This record gives sequence, structure tokens and C-alpha cells, in this order.
Amino acid sequence: MREVTATRYVTALREGGSLPGLVEADDDGLYVVKFKGAGQGASALVAEVVAGELGRAIGLPIPELVGVSVPPELGHAEPDPEIQELIEASPGLNLGMDFLPGALPFALNEERDRAPEQGDFYADVLWFDALVTNIDRTPRNPNLLAWHRKTWLIDHGAAFFRQHGNEPLGQTAHSPTPSLKEHILLPVAGSLADAGARHAERARNSIEAAVAEIPEEWLGENPGLGRSEFIAFLNRRIDGQDCFIEELENGR
Ligand SMILES: Nc1ncnc2c1ncn2[C@@H]1O[C@H](COP(=O)(O)OP(=O)(O)OP(=O)(O)O)[C@@H](O)[C@H]1O
Ligand SMILES: [Mg+2]
Repeated sequence: MREVTATRYVTALREGGSLPGLVEADDDGLYVVKFKGAGQGASALVAEVVAGELGRAIGLPIPELVGVSVPPELGHAEPDPEIQELIEASPGLNLGMDFLPGALPFALNEERDRAPEQGDFYADVLWFDALVTNIDRTPRNPNLLAWHRKTWLIDHGAAFFRQHGNEPLGQTAHSPTPSLKEHILLPVAGSLADAGARHAERARNSIEAAVAEIPEEWLGENPGLGRSEFIAFLNRRIDGQDCFIEELENGR
């Protein structure tokens, strides 16, 4: 990931549960920043990076991710004490996603969604979400944006959700994930087996590079959860993809 330094806190994106902020950086770019001082701490940012980099590696449209260095004075001009506290609790590196200006919320569209290539794309997204156990793409909260005639994937903070449980993440790779039945694209996605055939090999070859992108300073928080846990988890998910594909196909 590139690293940039935040120069201005522009506004809070209040629809986001983790209170992400729109931030300007020293490269003149605008980024949606997730702060490590928010609810789930750095582990949600780790999930964003591993899932985001892996998804982009298999060709899914995911805006660029950057490390955003947040200087303490960024919050000084901010009148809202909640935001000031969040910024103060987030020194060092935070996660930025390239802001897509004017992006619209995603909506299913009957005419477009009848095209077979659209069903294939939706199957690719669903297969990817199943791979990384991202349970946060539901009709209520699709975390998909329509921008420049493409559908973009955002918000992978809930991926690898079992990293918050008691078992080591790598050992949870074959656990069923019933929440994926709520996925917004399940009713319209094409064949998941075909999506797996399209992407499994590239995904497997991209795991190490994606995991290598995790900034070291985000890993210190949870000593039991290092890079090797993510690598083991993802390799086992791919080995066992037939199981999650069957689970999803049975849920239609
Ligand atoms: N790259 C982006 N470009 C444009 N808008 C974005 C981008 N990323 C996020 N947003 C907007 O900000 C909102 C909140 O972002 P996001 O979903 O990533 O945050 P969150 O706190 O994890 O949210 P959630 O409540 O879904 O857990 C999105 O629903 C979207 O409207
Ligand atoms: Mg969201």
C-alpha cells in the first residue's frame, strides 16, 4: 500500500457504523478513512486490507487502499467531541480507501441483472465474500457502490469475522457461515462453481502478497493473530470451497 499523510478532516460519513471520515491527504487525494481507534480497533482494518487486496488481485473493482498517517493536530479544528476523540485515539497509521466522488448506492436492476455476464460478476463477488467470510453485503447494507458504470466493492471490515472469536482463525476455515444466506447477490448470482473455477488459482497465488500488505503496527494488538493465521485460513477456505459453494447453493 502507498502511504499518505492526512492534512484535513473534511466531514464524517455518518451512515457508517464505525464513523469513517472523508479526509484530504498530502497527495491532494480524498480518502474515506477508517480509524483504528473505532469500535473493533485495528483488526477491522486488517480485514479491510487482506480482503481488499485479495479481491482486487482476482479482478474485482475495489478502490485503492492506502495507509493514512494521522497527525494528532488533525482533530484540533473539529467541533464534534466524538470525532475529536476518535482522531486522538488513532495516532499513526489508519486505513484510507480512494473516495469515489458522486458514487450512487447500488440497487438491483431487473433489466441489467438478466444479462448472463452480470450473473457471472455477481457470482464472482459472492464467491469472494464466501472466501473471506464477509457477512456484510446484505440488502439492508449492500456495501456496493455504482460509479462510472461499474459496481464497486467497499467495506470489508467484517470479513474474517471469526478473528474476533476464541478459536484461532485458521481453525475456523471449515465452519459453516449461515449469515451468507443474507447476501444481497445470492438470488441473482450465476454459478458459484464456475466462479470458483475462474478465480481459485489466482486467489491462492495472491494470498501471501495480500497478507504482506498488513502494516506491522496493526498486528501487535492481538499476538495470537498473525499473518500466518490469515494465510492458513485462506488456503483452507480455497481447499474447502466445494463446501461453501454447496452451502450457498442450498441456501437459494
Ligand atoms: N470509497 C468510497 N467512495 C465513496 N463513498 C464511500 C466510499 N467508502 C465508503 N463510502 C460511503 O460511506 C459509507 C460508510 O462506509 P463503510 O460502509 O465503509 O463504513 P462502515 O463504518 O464500515 O459502515 P457499516 O455501517 O456498513 O459497517 C458507505 O455506505 C458509502 O456511502
Ligand atoms: Mg458499510
